[in-house]
Amino acid sequence: MLDIKITKTTAPKEKPAKDAPLGFGKIFTDHMFIMNYTEGQGWHDPRIVPFQNISLSPAAMVYHYGQEMFEGLKAYKSDNDEVYLFRPDMNAKRTNNTNTRLCIPHIPEEDFVQAVKAVVDIDRDWIPTTPGTSLYIRPFIIATDEFLGVAPSNTYLFMIILSPSGAYYESGLEPVGIWIEDEYVRAVRGGMGFAKTGGNYAASLIGQVKAHNDNYSQVLWLDGVERKYIEEVGSMNIFFKIDGKVVTPMLNGSILPGITRDSTIKLCKSWGLDVEERRISVDELLEAQKNGKLEEVFGTGTAAVISPVGKLRYVDDVMLINNGEIGPLSQKLYDTMTGIQYGKLEDTFGWRVKVGE
Ligand code: COI
Repeated sequence: MLDIKITKTTAPKEKPAKDAPLGFGKIFTDHMFIMNYTEGQGWHDPRIVPFQNISLSPAAMVYHYGQEMFEGLKAYKSDNDEVYLFRPDMNAKRTNNTNTRLCIPHIPEEDFVQAVKAVVDIDRDWIPTTPGTSLYIRPFIIATDEFLGVAPSNTYLFMIILSPSGAYYESGLEPVGIWIEDEYVRAVRGGMGFAKTGGNYAASLIGQVKAHNDNYSQVLWLDGVERKYIEEVGSMNIFFKIDGKVVTPMLNGSILPGITRDSTIKLCKSWGLDVEERRISVDELLEAQKNGKLEEVFGTGTAAVISPVGKLRYVDDVMLINNGEIGPLSQKLYDTMTGIQYGKLEDTFGWRVKVGE
């Protein structure tokens, strides 16, 4: 159990107006959580302080070799002003899986969840309530040793910042167009693809620029070896409904084990759908599309929630999915997932965690 020291701001910022468009990740609340790590001492000095800039040496290791990790989760406000997190224990577990890969010291899972709850509770009045909005929570860890040698750092900062946000994609629930990248790759097995670390996202930027130049909003990555099998979008995992079955790439070490992905699989199975986690080639998709069997495509992610895909481009082929409209399964998943998250539906899986108790 952390003994968190709290220093409240004496100059609270103006909150966005109730109906103001928030965008994603552009506005930050009044407070943040910080905790230090020092080799030999462990994690220490957990504190909540006013949101502020931090000062680091230009030689801080994070700037040079990218030893860092981050997480993403959300806080939701219900109609009766209760505040919920969605499966934060899963973010805590994934933090430590990422930390193992990046040689960053583990954080006890209960400390991670306690810190998230504490800072969200302090800034609970910042949680937006218009439909489709929530408080995006960004925990992250950076290596802070002042040293230019390539080695694991001996000191770190763990921080949590909060951002009242709307939909990740400006188009909201409107299906997005996705570019299947055939030149660059995001990750390979044995690399860092399963870890939530900045380098994976840096590696994805060039594909995103190419996609945007051709009016596609996101990139679907293929495997790094054969460049044939579907991996993930980078901001979300991907699902297909093919001939009545729900199919998603298996967790093979190079894709992110998404929490919304796991929840989607559990929901679909509970509705009696066949769910297959396996390799899916781009050729299989093209074939299914040709035969009218590619019924729906959607992405899943904390930021993206359930995001329908209306169009997939691969080299010279453009696959139009469900006439560019949201399909019934995507809509049902979106309604159920958000219904549970905002406290409108019964939480049969025990996924909601209340803040402030
Ligand atoms: C999330 O969904 O929380 C993520 O971290 C994805 C990020 C690209 C916004």
